[in-house]
Amino acid sequence: MLPILIAYGTTEGQTRKVAEFIAERVRIRGHQADLLDTASAAADQVQPFQMAVIACGSLHLDRHQSSLAHFLKSNQAWLKTLPIAFFSVSLSAAMPDAESRKEAQQAAAHFMQQCDLQPLLTRCVAGALRYTQYDYFKRAMMRLIASHHGQSSDSSHDHEYTDWQQLEADVDQFLKTAGLGPKAHSA
Ligand SMILES: Cc1cc2nc3c(=O)[nH]c(=O)nc-3n(C[C@H](O)[C@H](O)[C@H](O)COP(=O)(O)O)c2cc1C
Repeated sequence: MLPILIAYGTTEGQTRKVAEFIAERVRIRGHQADLLDTASAAADQVQPFQMAVIACGSLHLDRHQSSLAHFLKSNQAWLKTLPIAFFSVSLSAAMPDAESRKEAQQAAAHFMQQCDLQPLLTRCVAGALRYTQYDYFKRAMMRLIASHHGQSSDSSHDHEYTDWQQLEADVDQFLKTAGLGPKAHSA
């Protein structure tokens, strides 16, 4: 059985957590799941023998990880032949206002266009504020942005906004759309 590749880029770790969750879900659905950090040396060794690919990345200053862009662009020829999903993790996706969520969708669509890929499914996933990992300037900047958008500026601990139930449903939807969902039993 060919695996489903889950290739992710992360800066503070939330997208790794998202990718691990997706891999677990894929396995529960009876598939083999291979996790790949696109910033690792293993990213140069990936073979095109996959059933499908799920790409995950997060937004920092309106851009997704360059390691993810590099991986997707340099493997584009075989990626184009497979069903692909893209999960874009951001704070904008967690914002209560529709304008911010639209920006997150536009950034995700733009990234896929740049990589010249047409995913079967693109989803914006609410990320996390990992205040405890930021340096002084990052923390100050993120507190300002967060409070401006009605999110917590309490930097004494981290805040996670990811909706794991929604993510689970989105993974199932992708598997179904890709023809990899649970098979109906014939009578
Ligand atoms: C320095 C910095 C810049 C960020 N820029 C954006 C941004 O432009 N748009 C956005 O929606 N979220 C932004 N975020 C929020 C991240 O996308 C969010 O924290 C996400 O969970 C990070 O995922 P990661 O831990 O996998 O890197 C930013 C976060 C940091 C720390």
